[in-house]
Amino acid sequence: MTISHTTSIKQRLEIQRLLEPTLVVSPSAGSDVVKGLTQIPKSLPPRYFYDDRGSDLFEQICELPEYYVTRTETSILQNCASDIAKITGACELVELGSGSSTKTRILLDAYTQQSLPLRYLPIDVSAGILETSAIQLLADYPSLQVHAIAGTYEFALQQIIPRRLPSRMICFLGSTLGNMNPQECDLFFSQIIDGLQVGEYFLLGVDLQKPKHLLEAAYNDSQRVTAAFNLNMLDHLNRRFEGNFDTTQFEHWAFYNESEHQIEMHLKSASSHTVELDALNLSVNFVLGETIRTEISRKFDIENLRQQLTLRGLVPQKVWTDSNNWFGLLLCQLTA
Ligand code: TRP
Repeated sequence: MTISHTTSIKQRLEIQRLLEPTLVVSPSAGSDVVKGLTQIPKSLPPRYFYDDRGSDLFEQICELPEYYVTRTETSILQNCASDIAKITGACELVELGSGSSTKTRILLDAYTQQSLPLRYLPIDVSAGILETSAIQLLADYPSLQVHAIAGTYEFALQQIIPRRLPSRMICFLGSTLGNMNPQECDLFFSQIIDGLQVGEYFLLGVDLQKPKHLLEAAYNDSQRVTAAFNLNMLDHLNRRFEGNFDTTQFEHWAFYNESEHQIEMHLKSASSHTVELDALNLSVNFVLGETIRTEISRKFDIENLRQQLTLRGLVPQKVWTDSNNWFGLLLCQLTA
């Protein structure tokens, strides 16, 4: 890379680190763990999936043959990205939970082909992944400007910087909406609305309801990567809070709850035993077969979701799906 190229990358990159009260080390750190493990049924916050190993395992999940989600969403985006660019025109792309920004490239390509000015605002809790992927993007897109924000999307949306382009589109891909319960989802929609002006866009990718065997295979892959991802949360907690979880005493358990239309991921105790987390002064008893719920992944019905979004004023202008109807991409516009 030439020096002038490097300089121009730096000039086009801004990284903002938000200091969030809940993320800095504080006496209340881990209170969410205590709360989850002392209630019945037990649960743990999904954010503890994502230490370095967890993020790595998650990238591997996205490539698994049984995990159709990433592949399917990518193929839909490939088909509709140029339509999206035509509809929104020049706009800032705000992406929540951007990770490695792989899918975003499809959108960036479409805007570039139509010579639309581009500003990309990735938001992610991992500052490391933001910086690495931003530098790669800037090298590949010579006129792109990146303003990366390290923080949770809830917090980042409240702090969002003033627009430099006439419009904005907030992207929320990967069916992360499904990892929120209905109350969290409702709060999330109001935060999206606060981050937009009337006429601006919200691009939402959601996994759709489908037969149980397909869903259960996606979260119980034969290489057991999802199992390793789930169990890794216990290793992460051990390190973080001086714990002694024995991962051989827990089993990955994922099933589709048909009445709730959601995959539930649990860790099931293989024996009656006690676990200590010294840094939290916590001792937790497990009985044989007792479970800790670590994640939900809700599966949506397009018509239902369309109505829910419309009621909130986020009106779907276009909806795309794949030929199996497995995944949906909704381009919504905020109305008055
Ligand atoms: N949102 C995606 C989904 O629900 C990805 C995801 C989040 C995931 N947590 C997960 C995938 C746990 C597998 C296991 O499918």
